Amino acid sequence: MPGFEVIDEEEKKAISRIFDEGKVFFAHGFDNKRKHYHVREFENKLKTVFSPQMADALCVSSGTAAIKVALKALGIGKGDNVITQSFNFIATVEAIVDTGASVIFTDIDDTLNMSPMSLESLITKKTKAIIPVHMLGVPADMISINKIGKRFKIPIIEDACEAIGAKVAKKYVGGLSEFGVFSFDFGKMITTGEGGALFSKKKNDGKIARMYHDHGHKNIPDLPRGLDRAGLIGFNYRMTEISGAFGKVQLGKFSGILKESKKRYLTLERYISHNQIKLRHVNLGNEPNYDTFVISIENKKLRDRVISLLNQTGFGTKNLPDAFNWHCAYFWKHINKKIRNKEVTNCYKRLLRCVAIPILVSKPIIDYKNIASYINELS
Ligand SMILES: Cc1ncc(COP(=O)(O)O)c(C=O)c1O
Repeated sequence: MPGFEVIDEEEKKAISRIFDEGKVFFAHGFDNKRKHYHVREFENKLKTVFSPQMADALCVSSGTAAIKVALKALGIGKGDNVITQSFNFIATVEAIVDTGASVIFTDIDDTLNMSPMSLESLITKKTKAIIPVHMLGVPADMISINKIGKRFKIPIIEDACEAIGAKVAKKYVGGLSEFGVFSFDFGKMITTGEGGALFSKKKNDGKIARMYHDHGHKNIPDLPRGLDRAGLIGFNYRMTEISGAFGKVQLGKFSGILKESKKRYLTLERYISHNQIKLRHVNLGNEPNYDTFVISIENKKLRDRVISLLNQTGFGTKNLPDAFNWHCAYFWKHINKKIRNKEVTNCYKRLLRCVAIPILVSKPIIDYKNIASYINELS
């Protein structure tokens, strides 16, 4: 969430510099007109910070595009099934459907992410990929999910769009499986306006992803782009140099964003003490990115009072329930008319009780302490 809150002169200067240094807005070529390859530099920095253990980091035009590129690198298409979770964002599902594959939805566990038990029960011969999603900054149970993936030999694409900076056993999410995906849209931890990144564990997957996102270009060294060869039928999901330059500045602000978000999140955790309010579960050894604080309230009257308090005081309630329709498969009859099965309905019932409090670094910490005490006073 907070990336947009910290935009200032630094981002503005980074973009102006592109004008001063040759006005090249394309990631490739024009070598004698430019001083930087901003997208390539941003990719290198992302890899160093978040997943040096992965073979490749590729910047693309959005998080949705990154998921699609990963699925394409795996050769997924018509007749295949891809399993993801019912608490999700529509983008993940759109990327799957766009390849021609079918989507299967799991139930969620106490982290509100993919239930490993539900996942295992849904695997069939048609399952060709699994996409756990670290919703609202809390990691899914990646240790169990990775074990299942290995046992059934099914690759895993971690959707870390909402969880840049979250960790499992001290490692950042997005670098824990075969692929990891970030979004840099305007509501994310760091932003480039629109944009995304794809981390690939295997060199060859990274190579295919790179070709696919760029019209199939092999980018053969020393060959001019016009004479380059196509390695496959691709598409255009490239990031612009403006986004690359912007992203490098935002990445420089990332540790500060995380630190400030953590202070506010821990204030809520420390001071919310209502006996009818449960806090979202985070697995032992996992760390959220402190972007959103989710509480669960069984009592509908109390829940409605908490929601109106958050709205009246300017906090809002982010995706739960602000944009519930876009984040739960229960509402996606346009994807599948029979979508309301056991897994999806269980997830819906669990999420109905949840309220998401956004963490904003521009809001003073005292506001979080105060809202916690107002919530505690509600009956
Ligand atoms: C979980 C999840 N996956 C994928 C996306 C898609 O990212 P983008 O908006 O960059 O296409 C989002 C964006 O909100 C998201 O929250």
